[in-house]
Amino acid sequence: MQALKLLFFEYNCIRRKITSGFLSKKHYVSKVKKVFVCNNCGANSPKWMGRCTSCGEWNTYEEEVIFRTPAAQDRPESWRDTDNPGGQAQPVSIADIQSGKTRRLSTPDPELNRVLGGGIVPGSLVLIGGQPGIGKSTLLLQVALDAGIKVLYVSGEESEEQIKMRADRISRSNPNCYILTETNTTRILTHAKKLDPGLVVIDSIQTLSSPYIESTPGSISQIRECAGELQRFAKETHIPVFIIGHITKDGALAGPKLLEHVVDTVLQFEGDQNYIYRILRTLKNRFGSTDEMGIYEMQAGGLRPVENPSELLLSQKEEALSGSAVAATMEGLRPMLIETQALVSRAVYGTPQRSATGFDLRRLGMLLAVLEKRCGFPLGQNDVFLNIAGGIRVDDPAIDLAIVAAMLSSFSDVAVPDNICFAAEIGLSGEVRAVNRIEQRIQEADRLGFNAIFISKYNTKGLDPKRFKLRIATIGKIEELVEALFQ
Ligand code: TYD
Ligand code: MG
Repeated sequence: MQALKLLFFEYNCIRRKITSGFLSKKHYVSKVKKVFVCNNCGANSPKWMGRCTSCGEWNTYEEEVIFRTPAAQDRPESWRDTDNPGGQAQPVSIADIQSGKTRRLSTPDPELNRVLGGGIVPGSLVLIGGQPGIGKSTLLLQVALDAGIKVLYVSGEESEEQIKMRADRISRSNPNCYILTETNTTRILTHAKKLDPGLVVIDSIQTLSSPYIESTPGSISQIRECAGELQRFAKETHIPVFIIGHITKDGALAGPKLLEHVVDTVLQFEGDQNYIYRILRTLKNRFGSTDEMGIYEMQAGGLRPVENPSELLLSQKEEALSGSAVAATMEGLRPMLIETQALVSRAVYGTPQRSATGFDLRRLGMLLAVLEKRCGFPLGQNDVFLNIAGGIRVDDPAIDLAIVAAMLSSFSDVAVPDNICFAAEIGLSGEVRAVNRIEQRIQEADRLGFNAIFISKYNTKGLDPKRFKLRIATIGKIEELVEALFQ
């Protein structure tokens, strides 16, 4: 009985609150919504937090004001068809969908076609990320001017004259390339719809602003909203859209991770600004492999695709010098021979220095520890500087053996003959391990006229040495390399 009374009392309290408006629907749906958004991962929270509970980053929460707007499907976006106002898709049986109908748009740039998996897919949304000044605008302007189709190049960063100057600089022109300096997404998409181009380029997503969102351009919610609008545009009109996105200092795409989920393909344009080589990598591709990569050379007149990277990355030197060794690496699906250089010298200051350009510093530490512990080289007392030619970053573990050879060569001051190359990974116990696609690596070394290649003895399965002109030296431990080259 007592419990029943209590229940009745509580019910009355709640009823009174609702009728007095305290819990009314109106109370909840206010027009302005404020949230705190993590600018690293895009997570949001109603309160400010010092550390993001989603990605663990510190001090990344920022307040954003978001106006409540109708659901995306119901917005009166003027570029949409009037007879299908919401642009709503109708359910279609999978049996009725024609496959293989999508014809890819092949660009005149072979490297871009390769990283996209064979050309641009109609209606796809492609994000190109890269640090400022790496050449993203140059690359896409080049595509826009060379494509031979009608292209709309939208720039929120540069004026029409600046873009024209750049076009003159790269000596290209295409009367079918239209430049639009606009940042409002609705106006951009209205123009795009009217112009009906074969390709839209947006430079850059961080400068766009959607009229439906109140926060400043470049903020998380703006980027998210603009990317969503572009995606709906691309999917409904089948016009491919390329978006340029800036990346932060630590290499992540500025903006929420969500942007990567929205787009179909994520390409990363990278390279050292002090060198001329630029690499276009595929980080995500819904229509192709992510193993592909393209190499460009930044010249005074624009970006030039590099077809034979090995020939450029091997430095031309007169005599064999100590401290350098050539690695047969794979960049994506392409074999590439790269020169690695090491300088090992006695430490002048107390703590020996380690520095690596184009190679993971922790992996260098591991290789040094292996050499010290397993092979007895006292490298712990030495400064070690490592450099990969051309300013290229290599993640392929097959470069390990060349790096070890370069370090040992510098340490013992004995040059590695310049007609030898290496392709193997080093394990923690000093063993020389097998790597993938060994045949392709050997073939490339053979083509470039090398006399011998050092590989792991566990890598010889199915390998026919008679097919190659060069000698295949197989080793199982680092000691065998020392015996063969430095004694
Ligand atoms: P840009 O495309 O503006 O870079 P992003 O859009 O990624 O910020 O490229 C700018 C750099 O490229 C600049 O440092 C100058 C250099 N560059 C050339 O070397 N040659 C050229 O023909 C052009 C157009 C630019
Ligand atoms: Mg730019």
